[in-house]
Amino acid sequence: MRTRIGIVGAGPAGLLLSHLLYLNGVDSVILEARSREYCENRIRAGVLEHPVANLLIDSGVGARLLAEGMRHDGINLRWNGRDHRIDLLGLTGKSITVYSQHRIVQDLIAARLAAGGQILFEAANVAVHDFHTDRPHISFEHDGANHRLDCDFIAGCDGFHGICREAIPATDRVAFDKGHPFGWLGILADAAPASHEVTYARHDNGFALLSMRSPTVSRLYLQCAPDEDIGQWSDARIWAELRTRLGRGGFGLNEGPITQKGVTPMRSFVCEPMQSGRLFLLGDAAHIVPPTGAKGLNLAAADVAVLTPALVAYLRTGAAEGLEDYTKTCLRRVWKAQRFSWWMTSILHRFDTDTPFERRVRLAELDTVFGSEKASAALAENYVGLPLIL
Ligand code: APR
Ligand code: PHB
Repeated sequence: MRTRIGIVGAGPAGLLLSHLLYLNGVDSVILEARSREYCENRIRAGVLEHPVANLLIDSGVGARLLAEGMRHDGINLRWNGRDHRIDLLGLTGKSITVYSQHRIVQDLIAARLAAGGQILFEAANVAVHDFHTDRPHISFEHDGANHRLDCDFIAGCDGFHGICREAIPATDRVAFDKGHPFGWLGILADAAPASHEVTYARHDNGFALLSMRSPTVSRLYLQCAPDEDIGQWSDARIWAELRTRLGRGGFGLNEGPITQKGVTPMRSFVCEPMQSGRLFLLGDAAHIVPPTGAKGLNLAAADVAVLTPALVAYLRTGAAEGLEDYTKTCLRRVWKAQRFSWWMTSILHRFDTDTPFERRVRLAELDTVFGSEKASAALAENYVGLPLIL
């Protein structure tokens, strides 16, 4: 098999890259370890930054997003029984869109297949080779046979646990890694969201988040231990804790059947550089942020927005500047998103190891946002999304 761009991974990064390359007349093949059904139903986050929603709409995959996505002009920070609304639209002129990541994956898969795009699901033992030459290739197993995909470039879009990053010689990359002493316990519930905007709550018991997937489905999270045993959390206990953390000050919480629950540990991670020879890393393969800023999917889309024109320019005219600058261009935005995600995490979570001094400083930081329009505007500017290419 031969294609221009061999893509490993059919998450948002790999699918969007393949789609945008197609719009520019560049062929690609996606190799994905899991089944289509698994990819299309994997529950992840759901907040799209303004420039990312526009990218999806402008590239022709926004029909369902426009019909079913929920445009939000603000978010709330809840603390001490009080809501502080960040007026995203008023402060930045921009809004966010709440729309499930797995629906974006469904929309992109449908668009690729309708255009005759090749996505090989359930590809096993994917390995990348010779990317330090101008003839890289990918080996894999599919339908019980061994295959080889020759390509001009390889895009490693295979998430944090993929094989592409690890294929870069360890001496050629640096990992910036920060663990966080907690995780999030997340649920989906058939209950109307009690707030029509995403609400981040700080409470002495720990952080809680009220989000939504539709007018009748709530997505809710609780700060928990990174290795929290979900078996210890009955539905009744989850609701009681959500009521405690979100329900102070007369705020209501609508309860209903819990249809999905799980624990996600938290991590901040960046791999530098994001390229080695003709292998480029995008999305979670290159960086992970804690979900507090809702940046994971958006960063993946920004990497795609940087790499696509760089690949297209090189293939059309031989101009290599965009490819040479790929790491530098992406990292500028990645580190700003790291800073923002870390900062949102640090002011909203409970840190058991804090000294009383550190705790007071965190509270003062949150209070600064509550009390200052300029501080709120700085939050809003990052939340709605910095330009895709900085
Ligand atoms: N071979 C083929 N495919 C692989 C391999 C492998 N060895 N390892 C992983 N994959 C696939 C995974 O099954 C998954 O479908 O790569 C895909 C990676 O997708 P994501 O994890 O969704 O990563 P990405 O596309 O970068 O999207 C980033 O997803 O994880 C969330 O919070 C993150 O929202 C962010 C977004
Ligand atoms: C979500 O809706 O899943 C969500 C919203 C905001 C976040 C993280 C996740 O910061």
